[in-house]
Amino acid sequence: MNEVQSWQDIEPLLSVRNLTKFYSPGKGCGDVSFDLYPGEVLGIVGESGSGKSTLLNSLSNRLRPDSGEILYNSEQFGELNLYAAEESERRILMRSEWGIVHQHARDGLRMNVSAGANIGERLMAVGERHYGDIRQRALQWLEAVEIEAGRIDDKPSQFSGGMQQRLQIARNLVTHPRLIFMDEPTGGLDVSVQARLLDLLRNLVANLGLSVIIVTHDLAVARLLAHRLMVMRRGEVVESGLTDQVLDDPQHPYTQLLVSSILQN
Ligand SMILES: Nc1ncnc2c1ncn2[C@@H]1O[C@H](COP(=O)(O)OP(=O)(O)OP(=O)(O)O)[C@@H](O)[C@H]1O
Ligand SMILES: [Mg+2]
Repeated sequence: MNEVQSWQDIEPLLSVRNLTKFYSPGKGCGDVSFDLYPGEVLGIVGESGSGKSTLLNSLSNRLRPDSGEILYNSEQFGELNLYAAEESERRILMRSEWGIVHQHARDGLRMNVSAGANIGERLMAVGERHYGDIRQRALQWLEAVEIEAGRIDDKPSQFSGGMQQRLQIARNLVTHPRLIFMDEPTGGLDVSVQARLLDLLRNLVANLGLSVIIVTHDLAVARLLAHRLMVMRRGEVVESGLTDQVLDDPQHPYTQLLVSSILQN
């Protein structure tokens, strides 16, 4: 928590008010409100089906909510009311100030173009044209995510699951986004690979001062990465607060069950 002390002096990066998206009663997410500050990592936890991905997708411009508001303090556009903004503005946000790390790397990567091109593509989308510069930046980012430079021309389909996730992270971070959305970024990886990826993520987030909203059903991941947690159950936030407080002294009976791992799978 050291780098994010006094919220009062700082404007929120994202303000979410009464966000609601239901597919059918109890299935979705309802009436969610919170502020996210620069440099803050917010974890969304809860059992399978509790609405975590629905909420994350609604927040990140991938699923139009039924009601509610998302205000984003944009570097390029000033305060932006996300779903009231122009489609073109939202598209620019998605490829510059925002990043999305998907649970399945194949949803966030182009599997049949080279690793270098996967990174370079994001740069080209924000106007970078110089081939030498693009390749250089791609190499720097491969190094930052611990992928050997010699793999730059290989396709992600030839990478291991952990490497694919790291490439996805490099592809997202190369444009220096301010806000990253992640849905179970370590899901489906071996425990040892998970640990390395988490360590890498934690360092990148701290060093770059990124704001992150991360969905996970793994409380160990939440403990390691998140400053603050929201606990979801059947589409509602039942508890929120500082990570250590929520996990060490849960107030809601559901959170108590979750923490005692009865509900974890
Ligand atoms: N496209 C959809 N159409 C209808 N119902 C859906 C749709 N997507 C999700 N749901 C339902 O909404 C509820 C919340 O789903 P969501 O995917 O947000 O849960 P989750 O917390 O992310 O679960 P998991 O941990 O399994 O990923 C679930 O009951 C799910 O079946
Ligand atoms: Mg999900």
